[in-house]
Amino acid sequence: MGELLRRILEECEGRFVSGQEIGRRLGTSRAAVWKQVQGLRRRGFGIEGARGAGYRLLGRPDLIEEPELFSLLSHREFWKSFLFFPVTDSTNTRAMELAGKGAAHATVVCADAQTSGRGRLGRKWESPPGLNLYLSLLLRPPVDPLRAPQFTLVTAVALAAAVEEVSGLRATLKWPNDLYLDGRKAAGILAEMSADPDRLRHVVIGVGLNVNAEPSAFPEELREKATSLKGLAGRTFRRVEVLARFLDSFAECYGAFLSGGFKSLLSDWNRRDVLSGKRVLLRHGGEEVRGRVLGVDESGRLLFRREGASRLEKVASGEILEFER
Ligand code: BTN
Repeated sequence: MGELLRRILEECEGRFVSGQEIGRRLGTSRAAVWKQVQGLRRRGFGIEGARGAGYRLLGRPDLIEEPELFSLLSHREFWKSFLFFPVTDSTNTRAMELAGKGAAHATVVCADAQTSGRGRLGRKWESPPGLNLYLSLLLRPPVDPLRAPQFTLVTAVALAAAVEEVSGLRATLKWPNDLYLDGRKAAGILAEMSADPDRLRHVVIGVGLNVNAEPSAFPEELREKATSLKGLAGRTFRRVEVLARFLDSFAECYGAFLSGGFKSLLSDWNRRDVLSGKRVLLRHGGEEVRGRVLGVDESGRLLFRREGASRLEKVASGEILEFER
Protein backbone atom coordinates (compact mmCIF):
# COMPACT_ATOMS: atom_id res chain seq x y z
CA MET A 1 0.00 0.00 0.00
CA GLY A 2 1.44 3.33 -1.07
CA GLU A 3 4.42 1.83 -2.92
CA LEU A 4 3.31 3.03 -6.35
CA LEU A 5 2.58 6.51 -5.00
CA ARG A 6 6.01 6.53 -3.39
CA ARG A 7 7.62 5.64 -6.71
CA ILE A 8 5.71 8.39 -8.53
CA LEU A 9 6.82 11.00 -5.97
CA GLU A 10 10.42 9.72 -6.02
CA GLU A 11 10.52 9.85 -9.83
CA CYS A 12 9.56 13.54 -9.65
CA GLU A 13 12.53 14.30 -7.41
CA GLY A 14 10.93 16.96 -5.26
CA ARG A 15 8.73 18.56 -7.97
CA PHE A 16 4.96 18.82 -7.48
CA VAL A 17 2.67 16.24 -9.14
CA SER A 18 -1.02 17.02 -9.24
CA GLY A 19 -3.49 14.87 -7.30
CA GLN A 20 -5.35 14.34 -10.54
CA GLU A 21 -2.25 13.00 -12.32
CA ILE A 22 -1.43 10.67 -9.41
CA GLY A 23 -5.05 9.48 -9.27
CA ARG A 24 -4.94 8.73 -13.01
CA ARG A 25 -1.72 6.69 -12.65
CA LEU A 26 -2.98 4.82 -9.60
CA GLY A 27 -6.44 4.34 -11.05
CA THR A 28 -8.03 5.83 -7.92
CA SER A 29 -9.92 8.94 -6.82
CA ARG A 30 -8.20 12.04 -5.41
CA ALA A 31 -9.63 11.17 -2.00
CA ALA A 32 -7.96 7.76 -2.18
CA VAL A 33 -4.68 9.45 -3.18
CA TRP A 34 -4.92 11.65 -0.10
CA LYS A 35 -5.39 8.54 2.08
CA GLN A 36 -2.23 7.00 0.62
CA VAL A 37 -0.33 10.23 1.19
CA GLN A 38 -1.36 10.05 4.86
CA GLY A 39 -0.14 6.43 4.98
CA LEU A 40 3.30 7.38 3.63
CA ARG A 41 3.52 10.31 6.06
CA ARG A 42 2.88 7.89 8.95
CA ARG A 43 5.84 5.81 7.71
CA GLY A 44 8.11 8.84 7.95
CA PHE A 45 7.99 10.27 4.40
CA GLY A 46 7.90 14.06 4.29
CA ILE A 47 5.21 15.02 1.73
CA GLU A 48 4.08 18.55 1.10
CA GLY A 49 0.56 19.05 -0.22
CA ALA A 50 -0.40 22.37 -1.86
CA ARG A 51 -3.81 23.33 -3.21
CA GLY A 52 -3.64 23.62 -6.97
CA ALA A 53 -0.11 22.15 -7.22
CA GLY A 54 -0.52 18.64 -5.79
CA TYR A 55 2.05 16.75 -3.77
CA ARG A 56 5.83 16.66 -3.61
CA LEU A 57 8.36 14.58 -1.71
CA LEU A 58 10.51 16.51 0.76
CA GLY A 59 12.25 13.70 2.59
CA ARG A 60 12.46 9.95 3.01
CA PRO A 61 12.88 8.00 6.25
CA ASP A 62 16.21 6.19 6.59
CA LEU A 63 14.87 2.79 5.58
CA ILE A 64 16.89 -0.37 5.02
CA GLU A 65 15.17 -2.20 2.19
CA GLU A 66 16.37 -5.23 0.29
CA PRO A 67 15.93 -3.96 -3.31
CA GLU A 68 17.97 -0.83 -2.63
CA LEU A 69 20.55 -2.74 -0.58
CA PHE A 70 21.14 -5.25 -3.37
CA SER A 71 21.31 -2.48 -5.99
CA LEU A 72 24.16 -0.91 -3.98
CA LEU A 73 26.16 -4.13 -3.54
CA SER A 74 29.15 -4.97 -5.72
CA HIS A 75 29.37 -8.54 -4.32
CA ARG A 76 25.69 -9.39 -4.78
CA GLU A 77 26.52 -13.00 -5.65
CA PHE A 78 28.07 -13.63 -2.22
CA TRP A 79 24.93 -12.89 -0.17
CA LYS A 80 22.21 -15.53 -0.41
CA SER A 81 19.44 -14.16 1.77
CA PHE A 82 18.51 -10.92 3.54
CA LEU A 83 15.98 -10.75 6.37
CA PHE A 84 14.86 -7.49 7.92
CA PHE A 85 12.89 -7.07 11.14
CA PRO A 86 11.46 -3.65 12.12
CA VAL A 87 12.02 -4.85 15.68
CA THR A 88 13.32 -8.09 17.17
CA ASP A 89 14.87 -9.21 20.47
CA SER A 90 18.36 -9.83 19.06
CA THR A 91 19.49 -10.45 15.48
CA ASN A 92 22.03 -12.96 16.84
CA THR A 93 19.22 -14.94 18.50
CA ARG A 94 17.19 -14.82 15.24
CA ALA A 95 20.20 -15.90 13.15
CA MET A 96 21.11 -18.79 15.51
CA GLU A 97 17.49 -19.97 15.36
CA LEU A 98 17.44 -19.76 11.56
CA ALA A 99 20.77 -21.59 11.36
CA GLY A 100 19.26 -24.45 13.42
CA LYS A 101 16.43 -24.64 10.87
CA GLY A 102 18.86 -24.96 7.96
CA ALA A 103 19.12 -21.35 6.68
CA ALA A 104 21.68 -20.85 3.92
CA HIS A 105 25.32 -19.84 4.32
CA ALA A 106 25.67 -16.05 3.79
CA THR A 107 22.32 -15.05 5.27
CA VAL A 108 22.06 -11.52 6.69
CA VAL A 109 19.63 -10.80 9.52
CA CYS A 110 19.12 -7.11 10.17
CA ALA A 111 16.83 -5.13 12.48
CA ASP A 112 15.81 -1.50 12.83
CA ALA A 113 15.64 -1.96 16.62
CA GLN A 114 16.42 -4.68 19.17
CA THR A 115 14.65 -5.16 22.49
CA SER A 116 17.39 -7.41 23.98
CA GLY A 117 20.53 -6.49 22.02
CA ARG A 118 23.42 -8.47 23.50
CA GLY A 119 27.06 -7.50 23.90
CA ARG A 120 30.00 -9.57 25.07
CA LEU A 121 30.18 -10.84 28.67
CA GLY A 122 26.40 -10.65 29.07
CA ARG A 123 26.34 -6.87 28.56
CA LYS A 124 23.38 -5.08 27.00
CA TRP A 125 23.73 -3.45 23.55
CA GLU A 126 21.72 -0.22 23.24
CA SER A 127 19.54 -0.67 20.13
CA PRO A 128 17.11 2.24 19.59
CA PRO A 129 15.13 2.39 16.30
CA GLY A 130 15.89 4.44 13.21
CA LEU A 131 19.51 5.30 13.97
CA ASN A 132 22.06 2.51 13.86
CA LEU A 133 22.92 -0.81 12.31
CA TYR A 134 22.20 -4.09 14.09
CA LEU A 135 22.88 -7.17 12.03
CA SER A 136 24.05 -10.75 12.16
CA LEU A 137 25.80 -12.73 9.47
CA LEU A 138 25.12 -16.45 9.33
CA LEU A 139 28.02 -18.37 7.80
CA ARG A 140 28.83 -22.01 7.28
CA PRO A 141 32.58 -21.81 6.64
CA PRO A 142 34.64 -24.85 5.72
CA VAL A 143 37.15 -24.34 8.53
CA ASP A 144 38.24 -26.09 11.72
CA PRO A 145 36.24 -24.99 14.84
CA LEU A 146 39.52 -23.92 16.45
CA ARG A 147 39.76 -21.14 13.87
CA ALA A 148 36.23 -19.82 14.60
CA PRO A 149 37.45 -16.98 16.89
CA GLN A 150 39.33 -15.55 13.91
CA PHE A 151 36.01 -14.57 12.31
CA THR A 152 35.62 -11.82 14.88
CA LEU A 153 38.89 -10.25 13.71
CA VAL A 154 38.08 -10.77 10.02
CA THR A 155 34.77 -8.95 10.60
CA ALA A 156 36.50 -6.15 12.50
CA VAL A 157 38.92 -5.55 9.61
CA ALA A 158 36.02 -5.55 7.12
CA LEU A 159 34.01 -3.13 9.25
CA ALA A 160 36.94 -0.77 9.75
CA ALA A 161 37.56 -0.61 5.99
CA ALA A 162 33.86 0.09 5.30
CA VAL A 163 33.58 2.75 7.99
CA GLU A 164 36.67 4.51 6.68
CA GLU A 165 35.38 4.39 3.11
CA VAL A 166 31.93 5.85 3.87
CA SER A 167 33.02 8.43 6.43
CA GLY A 168 36.61 9.36 5.62
CA LEU A 169 37.32 8.89 9.36
CA ARG A 170 40.14 6.73 10.66
CA ALA A 171 38.96 3.60 12.48
CA THR A 172 41.08 1.73 15.01
CA LEU A 173 40.61 -1.78 16.39
CA LYS A 174 40.85 -3.20 19.88
CA TRP A 175 41.38 -6.96 20.02
CA PRO A 176 39.29 -8.90 19.49
CA ASN A 177 35.99 -7.19 18.75
CA ASP A 178 35.82 -3.41 19.15
CA LEU A 179 35.97 -0.60 16.62
CA TYR A 180 36.99 2.82 17.87
CA LEU A 181 36.72 6.28 16.35
CA ASP A 182 38.89 8.92 17.96
CA GLY A 183 39.35 6.88 21.13
CA ARG A 184 35.67 6.01 21.64
CA LYS A 185 33.87 2.79 20.85
CA ALA A 186 31.56 3.01 17.82
CA ALA A 187 30.99 -0.68 17.09
CA GLY A 188 31.16 -4.11 18.68
CA ILE A 189 31.12 -7.65 17.36
CA LEU A 190 29.61 -10.68 19.04
CA ALA A 191 30.35 -14.06 17.42
CA GLU A 192 28.56 -17.24 18.42
CA MET A 193 28.93 -20.69 16.94
CA SER A 194 27.70 -24.22 16.87
CA ALA A 195 30.27 -26.94 16.27
CA ASP A 196 31.01 -30.66 16.54
CA PRO A 197 34.51 -31.51 17.83
CA ASP A 198 35.95 -31.52 14.31
CA ARG A 199 33.42 -29.54 12.28
CA LEU A 200 32.09 -26.02 12.47
CA ARG A 201 28.35 -26.21 11.81
CA HIS A 202 27.75 -22.49 11.64
CA VAL A 203 28.94 -19.20 12.99
CA VAL A 204 26.81 -16.13 13.61
CA ILE A 205 28.63 -12.83 13.69
CA GLY A 206 26.65 -9.99 15.22
CA VAL A 207 27.63 -6.42 14.45
CA GLY A 208 26.33 -3.32 16.18
CA LEU A 209 27.49 -0.06 14.62
CA ASN A 210 26.46 3.34 15.97
CA VAL A 211 25.65 5.30 12.82
CA ASN A 212 23.40 8.31 13.46
CA ALA A 213 22.93 8.10 17.24
CA GLU A 214 23.71 11.39 18.99
CA PRO A 215 26.41 10.69 21.58
CA SER A 216 24.72 13.24 23.87
CA ALA A 217 21.65 10.96 23.95
CA PHE A 218 23.65 7.89 25.05
CA PRO A 219 22.95 6.57 28.55
CA GLU A 220 25.07 8.43 31.10
CA GLU A 221 27.56 5.56 31.66
CA LEU A 222 28.37 5.40 27.91
CA ARG A 223 28.61 9.11 27.11
CA GLU A 224 32.36 9.38 27.69
CA LYS A 225 33.21 6.01 26.17
CA ALA A 226 31.03 5.65 23.08
CA THR A 227 30.50 7.52 19.83
CA SER A 228 28.89 7.16 16.40
CA LEU A 229 29.78 7.97 12.78
CA LYS A 230 27.58 11.05 13.02
CA GLY A 231 29.12 12.05 16.35
CA LEU A 232 32.50 12.39 14.69
CA ALA A 233 31.78 13.17 11.06
CA GLY A 234 29.09 15.73 11.95
CA ARG A 235 26.68 14.54 9.29
CA THR A 236 23.93 11.94 8.88
CA PHE A 237 24.59 8.71 6.99
CA ARG A 238 22.11 6.57 5.06
CA ARG A 239 22.24 3.24 6.86
CA VAL A 240 21.60 1.20 3.73
CA GLU A 241 24.75 2.68 2.14
CA VAL A 242 26.88 1.93 5.18
CA LEU A 243 25.46 -1.60 5.29
CA ALA A 244 26.17 -2.20 1.59
CA ARG A 245 29.80 -1.06 1.97
CA PHE A 246 30.23 -3.34 4.98
CA LEU A 247 28.70 -6.38 3.23
CA ASP A 248 30.97 -5.82 0.21
CA SER A 249 33.99 -5.37 2.41
CA PHE A 250 33.11 -8.50 4.39
CA ALA A 251 32.74 -10.59 1.21
CA GLU A 252 36.26 -9.52 0.19
CA CYS A 253 37.83 -10.17 3.60
CA TYR A 254 36.08 -13.54 3.91
CA GLY A 255 37.47 -14.58 0.51
CA ALA A 256 40.98 -13.49 1.52
CA PHE A 257 40.65 -15.37 4.83
CA LEU A 258 39.51 -18.63 3.20
CA SER A 259 42.30 -18.58 0.63
CA GLY A 260 45.18 -17.12 2.66
CA GLY A 261 44.15 -17.33 6.34
CA PHE A 262 44.11 -14.41 8.78
CA LYS A 263 47.71 -13.82 7.71
CA SER A 264 46.42 -12.14 4.55
CA LEU A 265 44.54 -9.55 6.67
CA LEU A 266 47.21 -9.10 9.33
CA SER A 267 48.69 -5.90 7.91
CA ASP A 268 45.15 -4.39 7.73
CA TRP A 269 44.71 -5.29 11.38
CA ASN A 270 48.16 -4.07 12.46
CA ARG A 271 47.84 -0.59 11.04
CA ARG A 272 44.66 -0.07 13.04
CA ASP A 273 45.67 -1.91 16.20
CA VAL A 274 45.25 0.30 19.30
CA LEU A 275 46.72 -2.18 21.77
CA SER A 276 50.11 -3.01 20.30
CA GLY A 277 52.88 -1.97 22.71
CA LYS A 278 50.36 -0.97 25.42
CA ARG A 279 50.02 -2.12 29.04
CA VAL A 280 46.65 -3.80 29.61
CA LEU A 281 44.52 -5.72 32.06
CA LEU A 282 43.48 -8.97 30.38
CA ARG A 283 40.74 -11.33 31.47
CA HIS A 284 41.49 -14.76 30.18
CA GLY A 285 40.77 -18.33 31.33
CA GLY A 286 39.08 -17.21 34.55
CA GLU A 287 41.90 -14.89 35.71
CA GLU A 288 42.71 -11.20 35.36
CA VAL A 289 46.35 -10.42 34.55
CA ARG A 290 48.35 -7.28 33.85
CA GLY A 291 50.94 -7.21 31.13
CA ARG A 292 51.94 -5.78 27.78
CA VAL A 293 50.46 -6.48 24.35
CA LEU A 294 52.96 -7.05 21.56
CA GLY A 295 50.49 -7.35 18.72
CA VAL A 296 48.48 -10.13 17.11
CA ASP A 297 49.87 -13.23 15.38
CA GLU A 298 49.02 -14.82 12.03
CA SER A 299 46.16 -16.75 13.66
CA GLY A 300 44.63 -13.66 15.27
CA ARG A 301 45.90 -14.56 18.75
CA LEU A 302 46.92 -11.76 21.10
CA LEU A 303 50.65 -11.69 21.82
CA PHE A 304 50.84 -10.95 25.51
CA ARG A 305 53.66 -10.76 28.08
CA ARG A 306 52.66 -10.86 31.77
CA GLU A 307 54.23 -8.31 34.06
CA GLY A 308 57.53 -9.69 35.33
CA ALA A 309 57.53 -12.64 32.91
CA SER A 310 59.77 -13.18 29.91
CA ARG A 311 57.63 -15.76 28.12
CA LEU A 312 55.29 -14.57 25.38
CA GLU A 313 51.75 -15.98 25.58
CA LYS A 314 49.47 -16.45 22.60
CA VAL A 315 45.90 -15.81 23.70
CA ALA A 316 43.12 -17.10 21.44
CA SER A 317 40.18 -15.64 23.38
CA GLY A 318 39.81 -13.13 26.18
CA GLU A 319 38.77 -9.62 27.02
CA ILE A 320 40.81 -6.47 27.56
CA LEU A 321 39.35 -4.82 30.66
CA GLU A 322 41.68 -1.79 30.77
CA PHE A 323 44.29 -0.38 28.43
CA GLU A 324 46.78 2.47 28.36
CA ARG A 325 45.60 5.32 26.11
C1 BTN B 1 30.17 -5.95 22.15
O1 BTN B 1 30.90 -5.01 21.86
O2 BTN B 1 30.05 -6.32 23.33
C2 BTN B 1 29.45 -6.70 21.06
C3 BTN B 1 28.18 -6.00 20.63
C4 BTN B 1 27.43 -6.71 19.54
C5 BTN B 1 26.08 -6.08 19.26
C6 BTN B 1 25.41 -6.67 18.06
S1 BTN B 1 23.99 -5.75 17.56
C7 BTN B 1 23.56 -7.01 16.43
C8 BTN B 1 23.82 -8.34 17.14
N1 BTN B 1 22.69 -8.72 17.93
C9 BTN B 1 22.97 -8.72 19.23
O3 BTN B 1 22.15 -9.00 20.15
N2 BTN B 1 24.24 -8.36 19.42
C10 BTN B 1 24.93 -8.10 18.19
